[in-house]
Amino acid sequence: MSESTVAIVTGASRGLGEAFAEQLLDAGASVITLARNSNPRLAELASAKGARLQQLQADLSQTSSIESAAGLLSAALPTDASRYLLINNAGTVDPICLADGLFDADSIERAFNLNVVAVMVVTAAFLRSAPKAADRRIVNISSGAGRKPTAGWPVYCATKAALDHYTRVLAEENPDLRVASLAPGVVDTAMQERIRGTDRRHFPDLDRFLQLHEQGQLASPQSIASRILQHVASDRYGHEILDDIRNYDIPS
Ligand SMILES: NC(=O)c1ccc[n+]([C@@H]2O[C@H](COP(=O)([O-])OP(=O)(O)OC[C@H]3O[C@@H](n4cnc5c(N)ncnc54)[C@H](OP(=O)(O)O)[C@@H]3O)[C@@H](O)[C@H]2O)c1
Repeated sequence: MSESTVAIVTGASRGLGEAFAEQLLDAGASVITLARNSNPRLAELASAKGARLQQLQADLSQTSSIESAAGLLSAALPTDASRYLLINNAGTVDPICLADGLFDADSIERAFNLNVVAVMVVTAAFLRSAPKAADRRIVNISSGAGRKPTAGWPVYCATKAALDHYTRVLAEENPDLRVASLAPGVVDTAMQERIRGTDRRHFPDLDRFLQLHEQGQLASPQSIASRILQHVASDRYGHEILDDIRNYDIPS
């Protein structure tokens, strides 16, 4: 993933997405990001490296904003690169709530928009705009929660399960595309802080996440981003559509 690679990373303002963008810029890729906030550290890194970075600002939980973001992305995508990588990483675990309390339809809709709808629309823009002759790869950042039911996360689990199945269709329709829906494991980001701050009544599994944190068992975003990018660059990438980076013994 180096020179002549164009990479698009959603949710690069912090967390795992920021680590992806940093490492891609370091490797010399041109990077386009999409999130509500831009990231000054990425801008500094890009200018220090002389790397090309465009930070597009969009609220991907709103359908009208998703559509305009896809348009901006298509317009921003250079057409002369030999490799194109899309990392659909932006996501939310909210609303955290047992199924019998899910009355706030707007919060459910925002989660589906961000975790599923935006992925579909941004991916459509990528498929139409990145030249078919190039090496094209997509990573959909999923979660173990899409495969294992977790009380308190009915919305999060449903969005990631939808993302997983959508990714299988994407692979079915595009035999030349390398794509996977990849769970990253438990990563030390703001999302984990949000989970640890949940009321136990809404999230019965809270103690497990408090313990993982206390015992220092959260992976750093940098190490997970590094392992995922190595996996994505390898020839085996895309052989497993529903995958988990913890299945691979890759040094970070
Ligand atoms: N951390 C974990 O343990 C873990 C485990 C399994 C899966 N994951 C998955 O990994 C991915 C990254 O998570 P993370 O832990 O890095 O989370 P994070 O630290 O909360 O970062 C989330 C990113 O998504 C962006 N985002 C959130 N709402 C958005 C919106 N409305 N419009 C546009 N962008 C938005 C945020 O940017 P702005 O706020 O600037 O918009 C931010 O850059 C997610 O898909 C998550 O489900 C994480």
